[in-house]
Amino acid sequence: MIDHRGVEFSEMLREISAGLAELIGTRGDVLLLTASGTGGLEAAVVNTLSPGDRVLSVTIGAFGDRFARIAGAFGAEVERLEVAWGSAADPARLAAHLAANPAYRAVLLTHNETSTGVTNPVHELASAVHGGPGEPLVLVDGISGLGAMPFEMDAWGIDLVVSASQKAWMASPGIAIAAVGERARAAGESARMPRVYWDFGEARKWAAKGQTPWTPAVSVLFGLRAGVRRLAAEGRERTWARHAAIAAGVQAGLAALGLELVAAPGDRSSTGTAAWLPDDLEWAPFNAAMRARGLILAGGQGAWVGRILRFGHMGDVGIDEMAEALRVMGETLAQFGRAADPEAAARAAHEAFGASLAAAAR
Ligand SMILES: Cc1ncc(COP(=O)(O)O)c(C=O)c1O
Repeated sequence: MIDHRGVEFSEMLREISAGLAELIGTRGDVLLLTASGTGGLEAAVVNTLSPGDRVLSVTIGAFGDRFARIAGAFGAEVERLEVAWGSAADPARLAAHLAANPAYRAVLLTHNETSTGVTNPVHELASAVHGGPGEPLVLVDGISGLGAMPFEMDAWGIDLVVSASQKAWMASPGIAIAAVGERARAAGESARMPRVYWDFGEARKWAAKGQTPWTPAVSVLFGLRAGVRRLAAEGRERTWARHAAIAAGVQAGLAALGLELVAAPGDRSSTGTAAWLPDDLEWAPFNAAMRARGLILAGGQGAWVGRILRFGHMGDVGIDEMAEALRVMGETLAQFGRAADPEAAARAAHEAFGASLAAAAR
């Protein structure tokens, strides 16, 4: 470890924050908190809102529900605009809801809903918010999409977005990232929700000295710096295209195995793909068999436990690794008596990946 009040640390903190700001597309502050992503969501809420504030939470899955729960726990009057799991939120529906209701203080959005493999049209949703009454703050859970998928914080009118070190930034868990725009910063001056550890005012004051107010997860920051350097060297557009191409490969491979994808084509995430489990395939033994072959996948969350499987392809992944995972999944499906062709799935993944990259290069 290095001394977190020394010069070496302050150079590292400044490099990471500046690099992240560039990758997220903001001139606002990027604060690094020692927490998982959920801590960052809590920090976003308590630094911008007061008890009794009317907040609209647009929720399309388990993580949208969590963001709403946090705001409610700290005393916000939370209303939910719920979208059926598996679909993205519709900007026109949001605009109509905002127009028909008294102004909200903030609207909570999810960039990429990891529980269903759905990406929201955040730019269009933020535009709907700005077109509605009262100019609410736009607070975004960007935890599992930021870095890997297009995101332009300032240009899209996002006031605050949260991410976490273990996602597309490719570091270990332990650092939450909060990018705070000017309107969110100003909101903090009158926000009355209780906060000490999460206080952005403190974080900002210490960041000016290249430090954090409290002892940070120094070891995780070393990894985060490495991740940010790699993404900066690759270039945002290339990173986004790579993730989109890998997602296309995984989607094609899963389809080749006879699995039906949860999300409609336009709503599919570049960082994680969800597919329905065939009706009579039990998740626990199927998952155990995949694990025995060294393949670790996620199952469903909440109401979707035992109904879906989730295939992660975020950060430091390549198509060869994904094709291999699809092949192993195909072999396991065959072990469970399904007519799955593992080699065809791996081939389909490579082909769709290549086609997607070629299309992006045109
Ligand atoms: C969209 C989203 N929000 C919130 C979280 C929670 O983050 P953490 O587990 O780092 O607290 C996750 C984690 O997967 C996520 O994907």
